[in-house]
Amino acid sequence: MKKLSTTGRAWLKGFHIVCTCAWVGAGVCMFLLNFVARPDNSHDLYVVMAALTIIDEWAVIPAAVGSLLTGLLISLLTPWGFFKWRWVAVKWGLTIAMTLFGIFYLSPWLHEMAAITVADPVGALQNKTFQSNRLLLSLSSGPMFLSMLFLVFISVIKPWSTRVKRRHAARAAALHEVPESPPSVDGNRRRGHGQLGAPSAQIGDGGDGVPGWQPGGVQPQIGGDHQRAA
Ligand code: HEM
Repeated sequence: MKKLSTTGRAWLKGFHIVCTCAWVGAGVCMFLLNFVARPDNSHDLYVVMAALTIIDEWAVIPAAVGSLLTGLLISLLTPWGFFKWRWVAVKWGLTIAMTLFGIFYLSPWLHEMAAITVADPVGALQNKTFQSNRLLLSLSSGPMFLSMLFLVFISVIKPWSTRVKRRHAARAAALHEVPESPPSVDGNRRRGHGQLGAPSAQIGDGGDGVPGWQPGGVQPQIGGDHQRAA
């Protein structure tokens, strides 16, 4: 399949980040409403349940679908692919698992609680189904939130790049020396400048996501994106 241009990729990545930020942000709001807002009367309960339902329907679900779709487009239309990189494969697995869990468990629990609140605002807090759903939601929101943070961090750090390690080892063997790191252009904030385990491509990349630095070769440019796939 034809791959996107650099500008197209930047736009797509921008949309991907917007969707994922919306998902994480909406998740934080729901987490806070669940744990911090503890309504003790029917009116407050009604308001909290209405807010939770609106956030779920208008933010969490669209943002989760958006993250999945933009993730799909990134995998299809850029050299990152689906399973070339372990961190991308992990993102696939975890995102699908979280989306399914949200659709089949979290949302139905929440909507059942909202229905109970509408039907019996005064007795809802004492209702057994309401109480057990509330407990289940509270128990799941921590792992969901941690999974989202995990996804964000593996996206930024891009770990477990065994393929790159293998190629670096092969290159080092071919050159009969261990390549030293080229100078860092941003104070070594990021891994990846010729370092073992560098997750993605740089200038001079041969199209396979492996940093293209060689002794005497092209060095990274200041301001360049050294974390991109080819
Ligand atoms: C189907 C699921 C997903 C796939 C296949 C996927 C794949 C990718 C890929 C390949 C990139 C790198 C793009 C580039 O640098 O050109 C990326 C970036 C990113 N992804 Fe995802 N993603 C998925 C879901 C998510 C989710 C659910 C989150 C967070 C909740 C997330 C957060 C991010 C962030 C923050 C970046 C930007 C990292 C950077 O600075 O390079 N992604 N994603």
